[in-house]
Amino acid sequence: MGTVVLGTGACVPERILTNAELETIVDTNDEWIRSRTGIEARRIAGHGEQTFQLAARAAERALAAAEVGAEEIGLLVLGTVSSHMLMPSSACFVQKEIGAVNAFAYDINAACSGFLFGLDLADKYIRADPTMKVLVIGAETLSGRLNWQDRNTCILFGDGAGAAVFGHSASDRGVIGSNMFSDGGLWRLLYMHAPVSTNPELVVPDNSGAHVQMEGREVFKHAVRAMEDAVCGLLAREKISIEAIDVVIPHQANIRILSNLIERLGVPSEKVFLNVSKYGNTSAASIPIALAEADEQGLLHRGDLVLFCSFGGGFTWGATLIKW
Ligand code: UT7
Repeated sequence: MGTVVLGTGACVPERILTNAELETIVDTNDEWIRSRTGIEARRIAGHGEQTFQLAARAAERALAAAEVGAEEIGLLVLGTVSSHMLMPSSACFVQKEIGAVNAFAYDINAACSGFLFGLDLADKYIRADPTMKVLVIGAETLSGRLNWQDRNTCILFGDGAGAAVFGHSASDRGVIGSNMFSDGGLWRLLYMHAPVSTNPELVVPDNSGAHVQMEGREVFKHAVRAMEDAVCGLLAREKISIEAIDVVIPHQANIRILSNLIERLGVPSEKVFLNVSKYGNTSAASIPIALAEADEQGLLHRGDLVLFCSFGGGFTWGATLIKW
């Protein structure tokens, strides 16, 4: 008996930004980007593709796949760090857009871990009330939160949205467990300022703009170790061996982080779903986009053990295991 995925969906912007085009914006090159990150292209949002609009389209696709009406949703949570407004939340805009009139809705700020933190929440709510249906979305337009002169960051990220509808199943399928962490002590390694305060007393002295800032090498080291620990801790707690896992859907940060992780975990690479080459790092959207693509490609079979892991600003990280 557990919390199952009833349907998945994704939506990415039309516009593709290739590495070759990036060469015209900043001092970089295709070979460097491919070899250091595995990224070949990313999607960049245009008119009518705000975070909530991409999220709403992904949500509508997930609802259609689940054969669930928007009015059946009791809770709508959206992981994002790139809303077009600070208030209301993007989740409230999505609620209006899709007509989820019976849901209460709010955003989760957990950077790249936003979707998995939302999934954990969905599981806990549904365990408490099995009649509830929860829509969890991860959506970002980080293209609007990048310093396009900073080659350390602007080559990495992309825009998009993914969504999943969760509900209760009386079968033996569903969420087996989650292992979630944060460490605010390491915030300086990956962060984004808020708009400058209008209260002079609260102005942050080194506010250099509301864009992503990162110590890439440090993030890299922490990301690999943290995701490994989260996965190993979860599997040990649930007494499940890594060999038993059928599919791994990791946060699509970059190929070198993932190769390191795969090697340390000892997972055959053919079990790991990757799409980072097409979309770059879409932060909170990366796992649900990958999940929707894996689902659409028929890679997830009933009874499969599907493992997720994420790492992002905060730091936030975690792992989740679902019997599909
Ligand atoms: O969700 C988590 C989000 N964050 C991440 O996933 C990022 C994790 N970090 C990384 O993936 C890697 O640290 C990067 C891909 C960001 C950078 O790779 P690196 O191997 O750690 O490179 P580096 O920062 O140590 O830089 C090596 C060289 C430097 O030149 P010098 O000083 O050796 O002459 C950089 O200036 O590469 C240079 N460089 C670039 N060259 C061409 C840095 N960015 C670029 C670039 N194009 N875009």
